[in-house]
Amino acid sequence: MKSRQGWAELYSLDIDRAADAPVFRQIYAQLRSAILSGALRPATKLPSTRELAAQLGVSRSAVVAAFEQLLAEGYASGKTGAGTYVASDLPEPFAALRDRKKPPAPAVAIASTFRDFGDFVDVTAQNDDRPFNLGRTLVDARTAELWRKLSARTLRSFARSHLGYGDPRGMPELRKSVCDYLRAARGVRCEPEQIVITSGTQQAVDIMTRIMPRPESEVWIEDPGYALTRLALVAAGAKICPIPVDQHGINVAEGVRRAPKARAAFITSSHQFPKGVALTMARRLELLGWAREQGAWIVEDDYASEFRYGGRPLASLQGLDEAGRVIYVGTLNKALFPGLRLGYAVVPHSLVRAFVTARYLADRQPATLCQAVVAAFMEEGHFASHIRRMREAYRNQRDALVTALRSRLGDHLTVEPPDQGMHLVAYMRRGLSDVSIERAAQEHGVVVRAMSRLYVEAPAQSALMLGFSGYPQQVMAPAVARLARAFRR
Ligand SMILES: Cc1ncc(COP(=O)(O)O)c(C=O)c1O
Repeated sequence: MKSRQGWAELYSLDIDRAADAPVFRQIYAQLRSAILSGALRPATKLPSTRELAAQLGVSRSAVVAAFEQLLAEGYASGKTGAGTYVASDLPEPFAALRDRKKPPAPAVAIASTFRDFGDFVDVTAQNDDRPFNLGRTLVDARTAELWRKLSARTLRSFARSHLGYGDPRGMPELRKSVCDYLRAARGVRCEPEQIVITSGTQQAVDIMTRIMPRPESEVWIEDPGYALTRLALVAAGAKICPIPVDQHGINVAEGVRRAPKARAAFITSSHQFPKGVALTMARRLELLGWAREQGAWIVEDDYASEFRYGGRPLASLQGLDEAGRVIYVGTLNKALFPGLRLGYAVVPHSLVRAFVTARYLADRQPATLCQAVVAAFMEEGHFASHIRRMREAYRNQRDALVTALRSRLGDHLTVEPPDQGMHLVAYMRRGLSDVSIERAAQEHGVVVRAMSRLYVEAPAQSALMLGFSGYPQQVMAPAVARLARAFRR
């Protein structure tokens, strides 16, 4: 390598030929940091490209490219043939600022509603694939194969409709399939125009927080209830009113007593999260009556309703609603797999415009390629058979888990098999703290969630939530054996 000379040496320019970065990038980066540090003062004349190339032993075109980049980004000014200068209008070099006495760093500016979320928003917790994490699903070989086939077909066709902006409500084909499914399976009363494809329940809840009148007004939530709904409402500045849940579901009379003028109620009617009870017909009618009188909205989160194992399925609350007060929210992230990030809302006619506008402003539209795959999966009848097969598998997994828990931990836990959903609740018999078992279980490689953490005001019950949908039958007994060791500690 030719040794550096003169100007290049003065400003410590050095080219590393073994580096991955191209030569012109290295020259550009070194000149730029000399300018930013103040080593090269504003209005200093740079050597000619020919001269600098010779000093560095590189091609002239590399120096020209570096100068062009500096000119384009405003670090340098000049005209071809008339010399290149360090720009004279740059602010005081960072280095000079750095050397001065530092003023105290200003407090990080974030909304007060985002400061106190504690460990609920541990964004990695749901990635944990150890048994018995919540919200995980299985996909069998048949679905995996079909998914590959339909994805390949969609990508191969690469239709024009995928290249531009699409409908913010989602693809018409998918909305139609979802509409047909909900009418048949959940007794939802809807037209395709009312279906909005979302990225899942969370987005539907978020949209509702944006379009509710007076965002700071009162909202009913279930106590205990789903933390991500509560936290989304808190983050939006709503005043949450935790309403106790008993064996009949949310206690509507208590809600009316505590917050009669609430703007909305967020509920999990078919399978209350976390307790698993269904909202009785009497309570459903009471809730709808209150919403109609008050002009309040009911957001019905019908998560995991596809997985019903026994008992008489209750149709959706939305199907009973004559007054257009219910926003029905469903998710494909549970029916298929969470990585999909697709769900839907069935929105009353009077709300469609506002709902779609809020979706458009947050995120424009759902990505189309995955929607096309799901639409084909549904249209060709694979969705219905996937649900049938997984329902069978999850039922067996549930039963294996209940058997293992009763035989290993029957002295400590009371367990009833839930007739719907993807998790079960095991109540502590002897007043043991669910939080301490949650912690001990982690150390034994088992994920259980303490239900007491989902209570806001109601007296907390100590119980463990165990997800069974994500783990094959044969995993249950050995994982319960590890959980039993955590209890022994
Ligand atoms: C009560 C409840 N609703 C909805 C969901 C699904 O949320 P998403 O569709 O945003 O994945 C979950 C997932 O854990 C849940 O527990």
